[in-house]
Amino acid sequence: MTLLVTGAAGQLGREVVRVASATRPVVAFERRDLDLTDPKSVWAALEAHRPTVVVNCAAWTDVDGCELDSEKAYLINAQAVAGLAEACHEFGAHLVQVSTDFVFDGKQVPGAPLVPYREDDPTSPLNVYGASKLGGEVAAGDAATVLRTTWLQPADGPGMVGRILAKLESSREAGAVVELLGDRRACPTFVVDLVPALLHLADEQVAGIVHVVNGGVATWADIGRLVAVEAGFDPERIVSVDEADLGAPRPAVRPKYSALDGAVLRRLGYPLLRHHRDAVAATVARLHG
Ligand SMILES: NC(=O)c1ccc[n+]([C@@H]2O[C@H](COP(=O)([O-])OP(=O)(O)OC[C@H]3O[C@@H](n4cnc5c(N)ncnc54)[C@H](OP(=O)(O)O)[C@@H]3O)[C@@H](O)[C@H]2O)c1
Repeated sequence: MTLLVTGAAGQLGREVVRVASATRPVVAFERRDLDLTDPKSVWAALEAHRPTVVVNCAAWTDVDGCELDSEKAYLINAQAVAGLAEACHEFGAHLVQVSTDFVFDGKQVPGAPLVPYREDDPTSPLNVYGASKLGGEVAAGDAATVLRTTWLQPADGPGMVGRILAKLESSREAGAVVELLGDRRACPTFVVDLVPALLHLADEQVAGIVHVVNGGVATWADIGRLVAVEAGFDPERIVSVDEADLGAPRPAVRPKYSALDGAVLRRLGYPLLRHHRDAVAATVARLHG
């Protein structure tokens, strides 16, 4: 049961390699060892290692960069996945393709309450990153596990929780406010919780789209208040701002709402990931002591 991981140096790839290595042989490829856009190298890697499962953690995740260079975005996030899927098919490996909430536009039915997107809801990406990742979902093929997730937080680095803590700490004396976005909502998801579910889906070789996110829906301002309370700061120092108030618009438009519902994970009977509140508390404990 060999697992081959691409994009192994990324925030998700690192944790997949770390956790999976405890229970099975893992072959980990960083970009410098295996560039997904080189189909011959991809083919040779699968031929040499004959993995049971390939977990594709590689992607071009710079959302604004993708907007400015769509050719590169589609090459890495879609075309390269087609090559990988073809090699998986040839050598009998199950493919796990990681995807994103940015395949949705967040608009839903005007006037109706927003509800988390289900796996079979229609997609409509607002930006090149989302469109290229949607291309990757299609390229992965029907037999692959397409795991969509949102707002990933690393298992081994500061991430957004760490950045919020640093801001609260650095302006502690002055009691200065910390401005955080309050007009975009999704499901902040902690890699430490995501990876066991990903490996379960990989082991079961589940085919199709599966949403995997921590529980609850939040803005970054909501998360900021949770971080402040957990770390003993005054939550009133967190001020919610709209994206439009933060100066010049960024190249890529982001969905205002991209929470995901884990209907398929529930149907499979896999335990749902803990609420983001508990994951925030655990992360603050890890980073803040
Ligand atoms: N981050 C999020 O908030 C988020 C949310 C939803 C879904 N996702 C999805 O989750 C997956 C993992 O994301 P992540 O946050 O771990 O991203 P990440 O930290 O940016 O890692 C992506 C990795 O892919 C590598 N890579 C880029 N181009 C490559 C190529 N041509 N060949 C091989 N490797 C290549 C990168 O290497 P270099 O650094 O050397 O370029 C990097 O190590 C992606 O599919 C992403 O779309 C992420």
